[in-house]
Amino acid sequence: MKVGLFGFGVVGKGIYDIIDTKKTLNLKKIEVKKALVSSIKGRTLNILTINPQEIIQDEEIDTVVEVMGGIYPAYNYIIDSLKAGKNVVTANKAVVAENFEEFIEVAKKNKVKFYYEPSVCGGVPIIEGLKKVKKVDEVSEIGGIFNGTTNFILDKMTKYSAEFKEALEEAQEKGYAEADPSADIDGIDILRKIIISSSIAFDFLVPKEEVKVFGIRNILKIDIDYFKKQDRVIKLMAIGKKENDNYICCVEPVAFDFNKIEATVPTNFNIAFLKGETIGELKFFGQGAGKYPTGNAGVQDLIEILEEKEYDYPNFNKKLTKDSSLIKGKYYIRTVKKFNLEQLNFIEKEEKINDYNIYITQEITNDKMHDIVKLMDDKNIFFLRID
Ligand code: HSE
Repeated sequence: MKVGLFGFGVVGKGIYDIIDTKKTLNLKKIEVKKALVSSIKGRTLNILTINPQEIIQDEEIDTVVEVMGGIYPAYNYIIDSLKAGKNVVTANKAVVAENFEEFIEVAKKNKVKFYYEPSVCGGVPIIEGLKKVKKVDEVSEIGGIFNGTTNFILDKMTKYSAEFKEALEEAQEKGYAEADPSADIDGIDILRKIIISSSIAFDFLVPKEEVKVFGIRNILKIDIDYFKKQDRVIKLMAIGKKENDNYICCVEPVAFDFNKIEATVPTNFNIAFLKGETIGELKFFGQGAGKYPTGNAGVQDLIEILEEKEYDYPNFNKKLTKDSSLIKGKYYIRTVKKFNLEQLNFIEKEEKINDYNIYITQEITNDKMHDIVKLMDDKNIFFLRID
């Protein structure tokens, strides 16, 4: 197998290094022939090129790996490679979440394969796990802690009483955060991952506009401490659920009892869960980012292609309708605003901490919670669901 890499940053180098170890029989069969970089000034490795066409038009290269991130030009390199009859592996959740159906169609038309395991939770084999479970079961739930940066921040705030800003800076220093951390803290990175994984789980292309997202940008130590006193730990969750022809996906903070597995996920680790009819609940724990874990997932995909396993093209032929009642619970709301009397009908408990009003709602849906956020019009509002 001759491989071309689009991108030779952290993950690209991870893939190159793993292949270069030649430690297994499979690795001995893979050669990285070229790698696209933005500049070769001062670099000596002879596979580097600044011309993408040297990869796309190289007939010897049968498979490419896109690890450059962003939508453009990654989108063009993926489409052009598929059209040139090359298999594609990508770690780029942004481009997959936006163009999933088109990539699958073009791959099908050109009789090549499209793999994307490293795009969802790096080294955690959730896509492969899903494919396996789906051979036997219908999947009714998928989700988990899909972002290492926010988990690192929440863990740091919980265990070391750190402030949000200090914890975010440390996550950035450690290289966990995206270049623009908004994608992490506002839940956009997780949104992309839950769109990809739920679409596979439910055979239905989840429309981005139907997924409500609330991140942890506004979280304060007050919120962490409030739940610490109740032996609860706050985590940012991706959730996908399906019941008959209905589904829901959302991204929201959740306060878990400290005995729950989710509550124990430390530092920048991820946990991905899925539920199948006969397998029950499965949880995969591991590194959702980083040079070698994500590189490993990319190499695993290369090996799947190399072994010429039968490739099931994902199909998105189910017609599902969003049903907001599939995610319900009591919500915690912290705001400087006050509900008026007639709005208070869904509030179970009210208290005051410093300048903030804390409300605990009765059981309401995630959609209703978002309506409340609009109503309150407080840009620093924070909410979470109490599990
Ligand atoms: N910034 C992401 C994370 C990287 O923290 O999980 C992997 O998508």
